[in-house]
This record gives sequence, C-alpha cells and structure tokens, in this order.
Amino acid sequence: MITPIILAGGSGSRLWPLSRQEFPKQFLPLIGERSMLQETLQRLAPLEHTAPLLICNEEHRFLVAEQLRQLGITDARILLEPEGRNTAPAIALAALQVAEKSPETLLLVLAADHLIADEVAFHESVAQALALAKQGQLVTFGVVPFRAETGYGYIQRGEGQGDGCFRVKRFVEKPDRATAEDYLATGDYYWNSGMFLFRASRYLEELEHYQPAIVAACRAALAGASQDLDFTRMDADAFRACPADSIDYAVMERTQHASVVPLNAGWSDIGSWASLWEAREKDAQSNVTHGDVMIHEGHDLMVHASHRLVATVGVDNLVVVETTDAVLVAHKDRVQEVKRIVEQLQTEG
Ligand code: GDD
Ligand code: MG
Repeated sequence: MITPIILAGGSGSRLWPLSRQEFPKQFLPLIGERSMLQETLQRLAPLEHTAPLLICNEEHRFLVAEQLRQLGITDARILLEPEGRNTAPAIALAALQVAEKSPETLLLVLAADHLIADEVAFHESVAQALALAKQGQLVTFGVVPFRAETGYGYIQRGEGQGDGCFRVKRFVEKPDRATAEDYLATGDYYWNSGMFLFRASRYLEELEHYQPAIVAACRAALAGASQDLDFTRMDADAFRACPADSIDYAVMERTQHASVVPLNAGWSDIGSWASLWEAREKDAQSNVTHGDVMIHEGHDLMVHASHRLVATVGVDNLVVVETTDAVLVAHKDRVQEVKRIVEQLQTEG
C-alpha cells in the first residue's frame, strides 16, 4: 500500500506578486478551479493508498486544513515545520513517522505544485514504479527534456530493467546551462520530475548513510513533537538545528540504488510566470489572460488582473500581474529573476 507524502512547504517566490509568503502558489488555483495542492490530492483518487501525509510550514496550517476540508479529506496527517529545511528533512520527517509503525511502507513523494495533464499516464507510471520500489529501489519519474532547463535535476539512464524502466547511471541536480545542453544533445537523459517512490526504510537508510545529521535532527524534532488538533508540530529548536538540503543533493546524486520510470503525462513544474503561460490555453495571438483584461495589438502576453481592468497597447512578450498592493511588469524571458524582487523586499523588511 502506498502512503502519499505531499511536500507543501515551498515559497513560490518566482510567482510573485500572486504567490506570497502568507499564501504561496501551491495554495492558489493557478490552472483549474482547485488549488495546485487540491489538484495533487485529487489526482491520487484512483490509486490504492492510505491517508496522505502533508508537510508544510507552521504558518500555513489552517490554509492546508481548509483546503483538505473542501475536498472532504478528513484522515490526512499534517506535519508542521517551524521553518523550511528543504526537501531531504521534510521527507525524512514523513519517513520516520511512517516507519515507526511500518518501515516497509511505500512512500509516494509528491510536490504540491505540479501540473499533470494526463492523469491516466501518471497512474501507469506509478504502477510501473511499484515493482521497483518493492525491490528496494529509490524510483524517480523521468520526463523527456525539450530545453536546456537549469532549474531541474537530470537523470542519465543506465541498464534497462524491463518494462521501459532503467537503473539510474547518474543524477545531476541543477547543472549549468552548457552541461544541460550537452545532456539534452545525448538523448540519454531525463528531467527529474521531483516525484519519488520508495520504501520509508530505504530512504532513511540512504539518508543515514550520506547525511546522518539530518536523520538525527529529524528524529529529535519528532521525539519532541506536540499534537494539536490534526497537526503534529515539530520541536522547533530540534528542527531548526537540522542541516538544510534537498533530497536531490543529499541522496539522489549519491545513491547506488536509484531507478527511473519514464513519465509522459504532460508534467510541468509551474515554477515561473513563463511556465504558467506555457501550460495555459492561449488565444490566437498566444496571449493568456485572467480577469478583466484588454489587449490592443500584442502577442505572447501573460496578463493577470485581480481587481482592476488591465489594458496593454502594442507590447509583446510581457508578463503583467496586478494585485491589490503590487503590480509586476516583466519581460517573459526574464521571469526567473522575479525572485530577486522578492529577496530585495525581504531584506528591506
Ligand atoms: N515541507 C517542505 N519543506 N516542503 C518543501 C520545502 C521545505 O523546506 N522546500 C520545498 N518544498 C516543497 C515545495 O513546495 C515543492 O512542492 C517541492 O517541495 C519541491 O521543492 P522545490 O523547491 O520546488 O524544488 P525544485 O523545483 O527547485 O527542484 C526539484 O523539483 C524539480 C522538478 O520540479 C528537484 O527535485 C529537481 O531535481 C526537479 O527537477
Ligand atoms: Mg519546484
């Protein structure tokens, strides 16, 4: 049986000003009517699974609880972090909690902010991954890359394992552009989709091997945890002492026990305004609009109006996002740098 582990602690700063510290993108309805988190949960329905386990920031607990309530999910467990320490510790908390009762449980680790257009294909890949995970593999889901994206991990496929699956020969997290271009040219690499399937015990063994301080800190944070309604609140001092690292750097780049299952399911990490533009339906001029928007002669625009009419005249390739207290105007090729504005706002307090 699978236990879904949903990582919902990211800040989504590149989708500012819609995504805010107090209301990050995973809680917003960016594509459909439901939020990205709700879409993630609903996508699980046809899979045989236990109650999901969510890991998020203390600050977002009521948001998460309310979004679960809207879906009628009453049995989810919610682990609260006082501060993010990236994904390796977040998954470790979940794995330790699950392993306490049954270490062999299979964890399906999911990001709360991904788009998957073809759910049937996603379920098929998960079914393929099951057999490998039961053999003790850390299974990744690989997407065929189509640009030299530097914000993803790259997985080189090794020996075939039947059924279209492979051993992982090499895992490289966020390579530089030249390296990403080389990988793309070989045709030998997948993008890491950031979803994983493995036994709780297997992940903990690998993490213990490569980053024992994370396991120790997470154990202490759980040992001192307190229960409050549906929330399990980590011991704040113990968790703050945990080193920050992602599963990709901490485990996936180093482990000898990884496999990759191809995923051809219209996957997209809605990480920036450009990827949201890519994922959304466009009009004849390749414009994507939301809310009260007027465009006179313009193409490849992403215009989001929250409260007021937004009009553009004779401009192309722009992202314009209007909210109550902030307006963003950015070139569509430079939207990765939106997070610089957020960083500046944070340092200026
Ligand atoms: N609970 C918790 N705590 N969740 C977190 C934390 C944390 O400290 N940090 C991130 N998350 C959540 C995010 O909300 C997101 O759902 C997921 O974990 C992945 O984190 P990202 O910060 O979005 O990772 P990334 O996009 O830079 O890279 C990962 O995903 C790529 C694909 O989207 C890596 O796995 C890459 O290898 C991969 O290609
Ligand atoms: Mg991401």
